[in-house]
Amino acid sequence: MTLASLKHLSAHYATGADRFHALDDVAVDVQAGQILGVVGESGCGKSTMASVLSLNPGPSLRVTSGTLAIDGTDVDLTDPASHRPLRGGTVALLPQGALNALNPTRRVGAMAHDILAVGDKRITRAESLRRTAARLEALELPPRVLRAYPHQLSGGMRQRVVTALATLRNPRLLVADEPSSALDVSSQRLLVDLLRRLVSDGLVEGIVFITHDVALLSELADRIAVMYAGRVVEEAPAKDLVAAPRHPYARALLASVLVPEAGTRGRRLSGIPGAPPDLRVPIPGCPFAPRCGHAVDRCADQRPPRLVIGDRDDSCWRSAEFEEAANVG
Ligand SMILES: Nc1ncnc2c1ncn2[C@@H]1O[C@H](COP(=O)(O)OP(=O)(O)O)[C@@H](O)[C@H]1O
Ligand code: SF4
Ligand SMILES: [Mg+2]
Repeated sequence: MTLASLKHLSAHYATGADRFHALDDVAVDVQAGQILGVVGESGCGKSTMASVLSLNPGPSLRVTSGTLAIDGTDVDLTDPASHRPLRGGTVALLPQGALNALNPTRRVGAMAHDILAVGDKRITRAESLRRTAARLEALELPPRVLRAYPHQLSGGMRQRVVTALATLRNPRLLVADEPSSALDVSSQRLLVDLLRRLVSDGLVEGIVFITHDVALLSELADRIAVMYAGRVVEEAPAKDLVAAPRHPYARALLASVLVPEAGTRGRRLSGIPGAPPDLRVPIPGCPFAPRCGHAVDRCADQRPPRLVIGDRDDSCWRSAEFEEAANVG
């Protein structure tokens, strides 16, 4: 069953005379009980999509079109006034930087009570603290953290506190924007285990997990969407996408991950020749055309249609050919 369906999301940042076309007709579905992974190079629009999907767009972002169907409601993404009642309870954001997400002047327990009181005005402080302590415990944080101020916690502990706070109200959909990138391996493991458990216990119905760590996604996600230059270029079950990406950008991305760079853990994205396009200029055709070894004439000026085959889809003029070749081979 589909939990959340995002359609026709286009948005740009207006800064001075420039417009950065950060998202261009993005669509994704999140199935109930599943984790959708979103992956792509830096600057491809992942955080922008996370901000809109979690109904938290930044002040300089203009959403020009888009709808989000969730929980029986059709949310008009161009109308921020309608978002407030859904924020935090229906959809919540687990943000990228743990430091900025916490109020330095408040104790963790007080912040948690404020969050829970938004959804339930009659909740007692004792009940808030009890629920928060349980969530902290799941992240291997002791109850004394409830009395701590953010500066009294280590970086890893702060990220776990942010995770506990973002998930406290058990949102239907949790949007996690690279929550793991600054964590050491054991904190990352705890985070991933908690997110999985929230879904399997039915406390959170679905998660969008954004990262540039494809290896992590291949373990965590049920489906993966690959983004490039503000578009979703391919979406497929995680195992299929990792085993056999079809879109040329997805293939290049996966290939770059499989060839470890000297001195890295082999998870860094690298090795795709050329640079992503300038998003200030609208792109009529395929944004990957200047870097794509398979490009044909129309790739430069005609937008490739979305081709759905079975439970995967991608947007490339040559997908049908690639699919045929894969079936023959
Ligand atoms: N506040 C902003 N003002 C102007 N441009 C922005 C702003 N935030 C992001 N951008 C631009 O929007 C594009 C997408 O950014 P972002 O969503 O942060 O990508 P990602 O999370 O994939 O790295 C980038 O080209 C970035 O430079
Ligand atoms: S549409 Fe053309 S340029 Fe874009 S990925 Fe496909 S073959 Fe390459
Ligand atoms: Mg980002």
